[in-house]
Amino acid sequence: MNRILITSALPYINGIKHLGNLAGSMLPADIYARFNRLRGRDVLYICATDEHGTPAELAAASAGQSVREYCDEQYEVQRTACEGFDLSFDYFGRSSNAPNARLTQHFADVLEDNGLIEERVSEQVYSIDDKRFLPDRYVEGTCPHCGYEKARGDQCDDCGRVLDPVELVEPYSTISGSKNLEVRETRHLFLRQSKMQGRVREWVEAATGWPPLARSIALKWLDEGLQDRAITRDLSWGIPVLRHGQPREGFENKVFYVWFDAPIEYIGATQERAEAGKGDWEPWWRTDKGADDVTYVQFMGKDNVAFHTVSFPITMLGSEEPWKTVDKLKAFNWVTWYGGKFSTSQKRGIFMDQALELAPSDLWRWQLMANAPESADAAFTLELFQANVNKDLADVLGNFVNRITRFATAKFDGVVPGGGTPGALEEALAAQLKERLGALTGYYEAMEFRKAMAETRAIWAMGNEYLAEAAPWTAIKTDVDAAALSVRTALNLVVISAIIAQPVIPHAAAKVLDAMGVPVDNRNWPDAEDAGLLDALPTGLNFTPPDVLFRKITDDEVAEWGERFGAES
Ligand code: MF3
Ligand code: ZN
Repeated sequence: MNRILITSALPYINGIKHLGNLAGSMLPADIYARFNRLRGRDVLYICATDEHGTPAELAAASAGQSVREYCDEQYEVQRTACEGFDLSFDYFGRSSNAPNARLTQHFADVLEDNGLIEERVSEQVYSIDDKRFLPDRYVEGTCPHCGYEKARGDQCDDCGRVLDPVELVEPYSTISGSKNLEVRETRHLFLRQSKMQGRVREWVEAATGWPPLARSIALKWLDEGLQDRAITRDLSWGIPVLRHGQPREGFENKVFYVWFDAPIEYIGATQERAEAGKGDWEPWWRTDKGADDVTYVQFMGKDNVAFHTVSFPITMLGSEEPWKTVDKLKAFNWVTWYGGKFSTSQKRGIFMDQALELAPSDLWRWQLMANAPESADAAFTLELFQANVNKDLADVLGNFVNRITRFATAKFDGVVPGGGTPGALEEALAAQLKERLGALTGYYEAMEFRKAMAETRAIWAMGNEYLAEAAPWTAIKTDVDAAALSVRTALNLVVISAIIAQPVIPHAAAKVLDAMGVPVDNRNWPDAEDAGLLDALPTGLNFTPPDVLFRKITDDEVAEWGERFGAES
C-alpha cells in the first residue's frame, strides 16, 4: 500500500456545508490522508465542488445571480471554509471545469459505442405555468414509498430512496409552487444499467475492502435489480450532450445529469491538477499507466453509496477502458442536531464558516471524529462538545503537556535531562505504549475512526497516569536522577502524544512539536515495535513550554451558541 488515492464526496456548490456533511466525508478523508502521509505513503487526496444540476440552478436563482457567477463565488467560499478546517486536499477542483466536460462526453461516447446508452422517449413532469420541464429538485411532493411530504424529485430525504419526479404524489413546482403540472414526453439518453447487473455484482462480491455499511447498501441495490436510468436532463446549466464531438440532434437544450458527471470529476479534478503542473493524472487513474498499484479509497455519507458502488462503477467498467475503480469505501451515517436534522433553511445546526468563528478547527475536528457517525447516527450537541473538548483536549492532553514542560523548565533549565535508569515503572509504560500504538495503527488502517480517537485519548491519558505514579516533584527533593528519568520519559511521551495527534488536531500537535524542538523529518508515525520510543529525545535538547494548548468552552458560550443556532429538542 504505497500509493493511496483518496476522494471524499464532492460537496454541492449550493451553500456552505454543515458540520454533519464535514463529519461524514471530508474530515475523515483528511484524517486518513494525514495518517497515511505520516506513514510515508504517497497520498493523493482529491476533492472538488459539485456544481451542476438543479441544486446549483435553484440556489443561484434565489440569490439573484447567474449560475456561473454564483458558482464562482461559492467555490471561493467553500474553499476558504475547507482551508479553515485544515482539509489537506492535494487538489480542490470544480466539476464545471473543462476536464470534467471532456471526460463526461468521452464516457458517454464509449458507453454508447458499447451498447450501454440508448435514446428513449421518457415521461417528464412539465409545468404549464413555468413553461418548462421540471427535472429533479424543481419538483417536490409526497414520497410514494414512505409518505414524506417534502420529497424531492430525485431523492426522498426521509427514506433515502432515489425517485423519478413522475412518481411523486401531489407534486408541485419549486420554482412557482404551481400544481398545474402534467406529464409530457421528451427524449433522453438512458444508461442501460440492467445490462451490467451481473458484472457489477461480481465486482462488488469480489471487493474485500468495503466496511459493512457500504457493502450492505450495494447488495441491497443489486438485489432490488438495477434499473436503466436517464443520464440527461432538460436544463441549460451543465455539460452539453454531444456525440463524437458534434452537437446531438434534439439535445441542444439538454445537459448531462449531475449524478452522471459528478463522480467523473474525481478524475477531472486530478486532470485539473495536472494542468496546473502539479503532477500527472494517469498514474493514479489508468491501470495501464501505473494505477494498478494504487489503493483507491472513497469517503461519503450513506445516501451517496449507491452512486459510488453501482452507477459510477458502471460508467467505468462499461467503458471497457482500464480505469482504476474503488478498493475501499467508507460510508457514514448522519450527525444529528438535538434529535433532528441539520437544516440550512430552518437555521438548525452549525455550518462550517460559523463554527470557525466560535472555536478553532482542532476542537471541532476532535469532537466530530471522537463521535463519528460510524455504526449509527451520532448526536452533536453543544453540551457534548463542551464536555469532550474540556475533558479530552484541555484536561487530558493539554494538562499533561503543560504540567511536565513547566516543571522541567523550572527544575531542569528547559533541557531534556540525562541521568537515571529506567525501572519497572518505565518498562510497564513501554509495554503499554507498544500495545496501544499497535491498536491505534490498526484502527486507522481499518478506518475505524471512533476507535482510533478513543485509543489516541488513552495514550494521552498514559502521560498523566505515569506522572501521578512517578511523582517527579516529590522525587526531586531526594533523588535528582530519579526525577530526571521521569521527566525525560514524560517529555518523550509528550512528543509521542503530539505525533499521534497530528492527523486529527494538526494545529495543537504542531505547536507542541515545535515547542519541543522536534524537526519536521522526525514527526513520522511511530512504529509500535520500536523499543526506543521513550528514549528518542536527545538529552540536552532545548525546549520551551508551549502556550496554553486549548482554552475551555464556558457554560455561557454554550448557552449563547445554543440560542443562536437553534439548539432545543
Ligand atoms: N454532491 C453530492 C452530495 O452532496 C455528492 C457527490 S459525490 C460525487 O450528495 F460522486 F458526485 F462526486
Ligand atoms: Zn421516502
